[in-house]
Amino acid sequence: MDILRSIESWNAWRNTVGHDKKVGLVPTMGALHNGHRSLITRCRQENDICVISIFVNPTQFNDPSDLSAYPVTTEADHNICETEGVDAIFSPAYADLYPDNYHYRVTENHDSRHLCGAHRPGHFDGVLSVVMKLFNLSRAHKAYFGEKDWQQLQLVKGMAKAFFMPITIVGCPTVRESDDLAMSSRNRRLSADHRRQAARFPHLLAAAVSAEEAVRLLEADGFSVDYVEDFKGRRCAAVYCGEVRLIDNILIPEKMEKS
Ligand code: PAF
Repeated sequence: MDILRSIESWNAWRNTVGHDKKVGLVPTMGALHNGHRSLITRCRQENDICVISIFVNPTQFNDPSDLSAYPVTTEADHNICETEGVDAIFSPAYADLYPDNYHYRVTENHDSRHLCGAHRPGHFDGVLSVVMKLFNLSRAHKAYFGEKDWQQLQLVKGMAKAFFMPITIVGCPTVRESDDLAMSSRNRRLSADHRRQAARFPHLLAAAVSAEEAVRLLEADGFSVDYVEDFKGRRCAAVYCGEVRLIDNILIPEKMEKS
């Protein structure tokens, strides 16, 4: 497994990959867990070469304290990648990936205004900008994203379509802990009590007959609710469990959608 930390070394490595080879990309911010493992597995199944990017992208953090609290677990991440059969890790520095210091950016002006976009100003500009850079640099044929970040997945698909980008976006099912909490790098910041509470988040979302009822149930259980909204067949939600912001989404059962 090769670890490339500069654009030059990345480009040199990428140029050694034969033109007949299919390249898959798994974009991440590190702190890898089983959700990422499932993306890597799918990427390896569908491509000749599997590349993972590990870059904690500052432009998508609207809250500086959230950025500084973001877990960095470099050695463990590299071990996971090695075990999972990743061919190359691309892990550039900010100055390499943002030679323009973020003077240029990608903005989506419609669907990014709802849900997380309404609560995290600038978040999706940062996500879409870094993802476009990673697509351009990786020259990947397919890229893999988890469905836990449902809105992100839809926006990345929309961007690829809007800009005629020669890449297929593959959404992969959310991987959950045994108590159904969606896997997330943020879970490791939960205290033991909040971790127990967090497991009730997906259950309360599913138990409620409407988004409004879900808000009531979550608040009654001590969550601070950013939003719960039924959007295009999904119930999407963000809550604070203690200091930690968690997001999740579930398919809305058909009978609920009609009522
Ligand atoms: O989902 C993430 O981990 C990040 O938003 C992504 C797609 C790697 C962009 O920084």
